[in-house]
Amino acid sequence: MDRRNFIQLLGFGAGATVFSSALVGCSSEPQTELYGWAGPESTLEDIRLKVISYAILAPNPHNKQPWIVKLIDPLSFDLYVDPDRLLPATDPYHRQIHIGQGTFLETARIAASGLGYKADIEYFPQGQYANTELQNRPVARVTLQQSAGISPDPLFGQLLKRSSNKRDYDQVALTAAEQIELQQFNADTSDSTLVFKSSPKDQKQLSDWLTQAMQIEVGNKERDAETIAMFRVNDAEVAKYRDGFGVAQSGMSGIKKTIAETFFLSREKMEKDPTDFGNQAVDMTKSQSESAATFALMITKNNQRIDQVKIGQAYCRMNLQTTAMGLAQHPMSQILQEYKDMLPMQKTFLKHYNIAEGDTVQMLFRLGRAEPVKHSARRAVQSIVQV
Ligand SMILES: Cc1cc2nc3c(=O)[nH]c(=O)nc-3n(C[C@H](O)[C@H](O)[C@H](O)COP(=O)(O)O)c2cc1C
Repeated sequence: MDRRNFIQLLGFGAGATVFSSALVGCSSEPQTELYGWAGPESTLEDIRLKVISYAILAPNPHNKQPWIVKLIDPLSFDLYVDPDRLLPATDPYHRQIHIGQGTFLETARIAASGLGYKADIEYFPQGQYANTELQNRPVARVTLQQSAGISPDPLFGQLLKRSSNKRDYDQVALTAAEQIELQQFNADTSDSTLVFKSSPKDQKQLSDWLTQAMQIEVGNKERDAETIAMFRVNDAEVAKYRDGFGVAQSGMSGIKKTIAETFFLSREKMEKDPTDFGNQAVDMTKSQSESAATFALMITKNNQRIDQVKIGQAYCRMNLQTTAMGLAQHPMSQILQEYKDMLPMQKTFLKHYNIAEGDTVQMLFRLGRAEPVKHSARRAVQSIVQV
């Protein structure tokens, strides 16, 4: 069965793609179940492990879960980048991997507050390293302190609800009030600048660029291989690896998901010839970006390791806050990536939006409204912890 037959089988016209949420529609299945994982482990005795069982729910690039935690003493642990879980072809300077360290730390901090602990974060206790290297030094030491007076962070209740929602959205821009609320929210706790792009002109321009950026991304064997390696073609792979992402995160469920996974998604085929996978990714990006009417940029003045970690914290909070506001959020990072083939288009994008020389657009994401999606999988807490 080819792709056209598949589309016909499901009763949709040309232009729809296997991954498109225009095609997948809504589902009556429960969407909040934590895939391959029972949820934060409240039965754990050790407060550090309890906190970590929430922290691994953090958003992170390709759901690599690039974290190693070393337990130090009964109330502290060090966080390291897992050098076996990088994305060298698409994230050559590990900038996004460090953003994913910040999201972990922020989720840990918020979780600790909900469990009655204050989490002190000491960044790079053995010193930072340059953007051109990755050293075996901790990104942070987290020290927990029990505190009867601590009140849970208001975002604690969003930790199990947050996800990156890759469905198509409703083509309606955020209201001015929503944008102001998020600006204020970001300004209260982050040095970064949050910029919204919500005009029809921006919408057209950004969806064109993001689609072209995906086209560039899939035009290279190493980059394709990196994504395909994290794409889970069926539930058996999800259960086996407990990382990565699949069609469920774009909203596909039920019989449509089963058909897609049975007839269209073959690891062997994708690895042998990634062309179709690449075309699907481009079609999906076009559909996702055209369905969104509001895009947001998070920009920093500096771009050292610590800035990358801190923007990860700010991005994580933003995703939790939009969850609290009933909004869907989805990073679309290709145009920001630093590999050589992307740089000419990136330069045009930065110039068009008057991004000051030396500033870094750390995150680009779309915002809107959509049905929730199934959570992506997470590994067991023990698999990231070293004593
Ligand atoms: C730095 C960073 C970059 C990301 N870039 C993309 C992206 O380009 N496209 C995408 O679909 N998701 C992107 N994501 C979202 C991740 O795929 C998502 O966080 C991960 O799969 C875990 O899923 P969850 O956020 O729903 O828990 C990015 C996340 C982070 C933290």
